[in-house]
Amino acid sequence: MSIGFNENLVNEIKSRCNIVDVIGRHVSLKKTGSNYKGVCPFHNEKTPSFVVSESKQIFTCFGCGATGDVIAFVERYYNLDFQEAIEKLAGEYGIEIKNYSQREDRNKNELYEINREAAAFFYRNFKNKYNRAYSYMKKRGLSDEILVKFGIGYADSKWDSLYKYFINKGIKAELLLELGLISYSKGKYFDKYRDRVMFPIINTRGKVIGFGGRAIGDSIPKYLNSPESPIFYKKNNLYGLNLTRQEISKEKFAVLVEGYMDVISLYQNGIRNVSASLGTALTDNQAIMLKRYTDNIVLSYDSDDAGQAATLRGLDILHKTGCKVKALNISDGKDPDEFIKKNGKDEYLKLIQKALSFVDYKISILKNKYDINTTEGSVIFLQETAKILQRLSPIEADIYIKKIAKETKISEGAIRLEIYGNNNTEKDNLNQNIIIYNKHKKQEKNIQSTKKINLLEKNFIKLMLTKSSYIPRIIPYEDIFSGKVTSKIYQIILSIYNEDEEIDIKKVEDSLEPEENEMLKEILDNIYLADKEEDVFLDCVASIENKKIAQREKQIIKILSVLDEEDNKKLDDNGNEYSIEDLMKEFMEIQSQKNDRRNRRV
Ligand code: UTP
Ligand code: MN
Repeated sequence: MSIGFNENLVNEIKSRCNIVDVIGRHVSLKKTGSNYKGVCPFHNEKTPSFVVSESKQIFTCFGCGATGDVIAFVERYYNLDFQEAIEKLAGEYGIEIKNYSQREDRNKNELYEINREAAAFFYRNFKNKYNRAYSYMKKRGLSDEILVKFGIGYADSKWDSLYKYFINKGIKAELLLELGLISYSKGKYFDKYRDRVMFPIINTRGKVIGFGGRAIGDSIPKYLNSPESPIFYKKNNLYGLNLTRQEISKEKFAVLVEGYMDVISLYQNGIRNVSASLGTALTDNQAIMLKRYTDNIVLSYDSDDAGQAATLRGLDILHKTGCKVKALNISDGKDPDEFIKKNGKDEYLKLIQKALSFVDYKISILKNKYDINTTEGSVIFLQETAKILQRLSPIEADIYIKKIAKETKISEGAIRLEIYGNNNTEKDNLNQNIIIYNKHKKQEKNIQSTKKINLLEKNFIKLMLTKSSYIPRIIPYEDIFSGKVTSKIYQIILSIYNEDEEIDIKKVEDSLEPEENEMLKEILDNIYLADKEEDVFLDCVASIENKKIAQREKQIIKILSVLDEEDNKKLDDNGNEYSIEDLMKEFMEIQSQKNDRRNRRV
């Protein structure tokens, strides 16, 4: 279906239109080495990752992956198809297209012309006599003036009205097929749109590029849309923009809706800065196209689940493109059309005023999804919220952290903890020391196999085997023995322990299976105390205490954040009763202990 282009024309464009000049008019480029660098116009970024190679005549963005030659750049930047991009470049560089592609040009113009005639044909049906489409649209409250403005038409219920009309004019069926105006089956051509309200889709240059045909009544599908054709790229166009783009620029924001009917209805009711994607989910190209007129977008999709899902996707796409995007909730009715018909323009404008930002909208969805009055609900809510806020800059995130804390009674501390993790400023000294205590890693293999066992456990075992006086001091911390073999070694040591006597390592060895002896051997060979037993012991204990305190701290913040203020007493996991007051006291104590320890160190 694609139109062949004259290779010579494409080559001339490529050789005459230097990519650095063309892109340099829109993107500020800096020479770096043999390439040029700038901020990518196709996605939202602050540090330049958009590279233009003069020698290769291509651009590549390492941030979003956009890449291509000069024609691809113009296609994407201006939202044009291949032919349109070529026309634009040729025009700018004074290249005579006529010499090259008269045939293709004629073909495309012919397609535009057929669509224009088809729209006029549907319009006459709609206008001239009583018909089902007209009464349907009147029933839906649309004025004659608006119906004319949007060029609404009627495809009658016969099988071949349009087909005959064009054939009599000498138009080839092949072209009608290409435009999706007719179908072919069992040796016969017939009209594709029958007994439907016709919505012509008109691009910003005023050309009819396709149609949407709505069933009158309940037949299926509700809307029948033109297929893609050499003149219709759904992903690159938006419905209504031909009429609304000036208004969008003037109002400095656009309302993006789901349906053809929403556009027309809002327009009639005085919201004229409106547009809709064409029966598909919003695309990157549509977002880029809208951004030419404004970067403030308000999404106003249907209130059903599908609309909500489309809103979430739309928010992401528009945000990625660098738009400031908001979403509103239709509070009454299924879509903007129903809402504005019932409540009027001013009420709809109030909804726009109340529209939620990208982040607020996502969080509002989470609030509905989880019951933040329960502990479990709050914890999941907190985790999901953190995921959203993680994507923001710290400054942006901070604003939301404060807001969410206020709205949900979850403490700022808890939210921060969830976003940024436990930012323990106290370094785990133990790990550093162990590197010193460990001998050179002669036996790499052994270390690998037993690596997973906590170094704390190995250090404790080594200490007990080196000086049995450590055994009673280690018993209070025996909870840390979690490895199967280390636990067993610990139990054996306890069973043979006698005060004033060192542990006989031979006895331990004899009680272990051969594989288990590997672990013992590793501890004996690789854990090296360097005559600093007491330091190692104290470091181990400090590390255990720190970990415990950090865990408790985290737990307190979490409990505090989800505790209801009125409902002061609660039970913890172990069934103990506690109150906000008790927890606050404990928390303060932990803080002061931490300070003490910090001060002791310096
Ligand atoms: P809706 O079903 O919300 O349609 O689909 P609508 O525009 O609000 O129309 P009414 O008010 O029910 O008459 C939203 C859009 O999805 C596309 C159309 O672009 C429609 O405007 N769509 C929907 C289709 O392409 N095909 C369908 O069968 C349904
Ligand atoms: Mn709808």
